[in-house]
Amino acid sequence: MIKVAVCGANGRMGKEVCQTVIDNPDTELAAKIDINGSGVYSSIKQASENVKIDVLVDFTQPDSIFENAKFCLNNDIKIVIGTTGLSDSQIQELKDLSLKNKTGCMIAPNFSTGAVLMMMFSQIAAKYFDNAEIIELHHNQKKDAPSGTAIKTALMMSEAKKTFKCGNCPEKETIQGARGGTSYSDIQIHSVRMPGFMASQEVIFGSSGQVLKIRHDSSDRKCYMDGVMLAVKHVFDIY
Ligand SMILES: NC(=O)c1ccc[n+]([C@@H]2O[C@H](COP(=O)([O-])OP(=O)(O)OC[C@H]3O[C@@H](n4cnc5c(N)ncnc54)[C@H](O)[C@@H]3O)[C@@H](O)[C@H]2O)c1
Repeated sequence: MIKVAVCGANGRMGKEVCQTVIDNPDTELAAKIDINGSGVYSSIKQASENVKIDVLVDFTQPDSIFENAKFCLNNDIKIVIGTTGLSDSQIQELKDLSLKNKTGCMIAPNFSTGAVLMMMFSQIAAKYFDNAEIIELHHNQKKDAPSGTAIKTALMMSEAKKTFKCGNCPEKETIQGARGGTSYSDIQIHSVRMPGFMASQEVIFGSSGQVLKIRHDSSDRKCYMDGVMLAVKHVFDIY
């Protein structure tokens, strides 16, 4: 039985993960951790002093994930990170710490099958188009922008070429930000935040006379759970 603690247990993703861990025959919910709410530990440190934890699943917020992850990796607790917003240098630091301490760590900006396929299809399409932009659309309680999924998609596409703005004329924004944020290989990312959306992303490719759109929509957080549980088990096989 894998003893799983969930950090961010009272949040939208955390609640779903807690129920999935309880329902899975191979896992046991060892601890619920959250800075808000009753009946939960307030930190991973406090929880680990009271119960044995094999794996921490973290769905909290960009400001706290880095310290949570370092605590786990320094205390022999494997970690599955769903929280987005880590910088490239923070990710590298966690990779190095994981390797040094031989403690498994998995970071995935998106655990849903459809979103992973959308990223893979976009990576393939990137070889055949010189122009591409990304629009990501989320609920208005999301703290980071652009989404981790959009950044990862741009990174994967950037392996194909150096710029996705071929032939664009010189641009002048009359309203700052109108063209979105510039990511890897000049890929513009546009972030929409409003009620009614959960998580959606559209990757748009254009060339003379044609437009290709690759789109994924999540409408229920259950779509992430198979991926989260796969990661909880796989994190034991890293070292
Ligand atoms: N990887 C994926 O597939 C995926 C999918 C959806 C969301 N996310 C990401 O997961 C994160 C959480 O999303 P959400 O919609 O559940 O957010 P949420 O705001 O509903 O939940 C976050 C929870 O974390 C708690 N929290 C914040 N700081 C904490 C800390 N230091 N220690 C303990 N608890 C803390 C909050 O009190 C809250 O209950 C976001 O970064 C989001 O982008 C990732």
